[in-house]
Amino acid sequence: MPLIELRNVYKRFGRLLVLNHVNLSIVEGQTLVVIGASGSGKSVMLKHIVGLLKPDEGEVWYDGARIDPLPERQLAPIRQQFGFLFQWGALFDSMTVEENVAFPLVEHTNKTPQEIDQIVGQKLAMVGLPDTRKKMPGELSGGQRKRIALARAIALEPRVILYDEPTTGLDPIRADVINELILKLKRELHVTSVVVTHDMHSAFKVADRIVMLFQGNFIFDGTPEEIVRSENRIVQHFVKGEAGPEDLAALEQAGAG
Ligand SMILES: Nc1ncnc2c1ncn2[C@@H]1O[C@H](COP(=O)(O)OP(=O)(O)O)[C@@H](O)[C@H]1O
Ligand SMILES: [Mg+2]
Repeated sequence: MPLIELRNVYKRFGRLLVLNHVNLSIVEGQTLVVIGASGSGKSVMLKHIVGLLKPDEGEVWYDGARIDPLPERQLAPIRQQFGFLFQWGALFDSMTVEENVAFPLVEHTNKTPQEIDQIVGQKLAMVGLPDTRKKMPGELSGGQRKRIALARAIALEPRVILYDEPTTGLDPIRADVINELILKLKRELHVTSVVVTHDMHSAFKVADRIVMLFQGNFIFDGTPEEIVRSENRIVQHFVKGEAGPEDLAALEQAGAG
């Protein structure tokens, strides 16, 4: 049984069709990488997985139950099983690193301050930044802030981690630290991961499986080895980082050109 499933999901914003009857099954423990051009619907797809967006048609399933019709009150406990590293999921600038990481524990658990303190230490160690507790986010580099956000994302021991463009805006070395962390969290926490990216280096490094979104559908679904051999020209252009005529046309159609 898959842990996460999109069944025939259809989503449009006014005249803009984003997901055109999409099907996707994610097996527990797998790292799925979702690639696709900017504006192709990757973030929209990710938000459907946790009920932040609802499909116009189709169904979203998590752990054997349909979740898309659930009201917020019932979605909240399910969402706690997810860790998010979203592009807009910035740290609270007015809080120290330790207050940021402690935040979900204070909000959602009855743990004592001592217990919370210990968990914060453990999570900061896991992302390789044990000595940053008293720092303010503004004192850290972009890569370090991402790692603190990741420590916060794993504070509640999530079963699934959703990463939206985790390496965007980082230099190649710092991006690779994030890639290594994605691999480490999979290895040590046995999490299921969904990584949205347009960074092919990152995709090849962390993926068990890659899917590519194009014009509302998955035009590729397979292993990193298979995507290299794909004969689909749109897939090939994307993997090699070359703009083909189809890509340019698609970008213009998507309004992102
Ligand atoms: N809440 C929204 N309302 C209207 N349009 C949206 C909304 N969210 C996303 N879109 C549009 O849907 C398309 C896909 O967006 P998105 O999933 O963010 O793309 P990306 O693949 O870059 O993550 C874009 O054209 C975007 O402008
Ligand atoms: Mg996005």
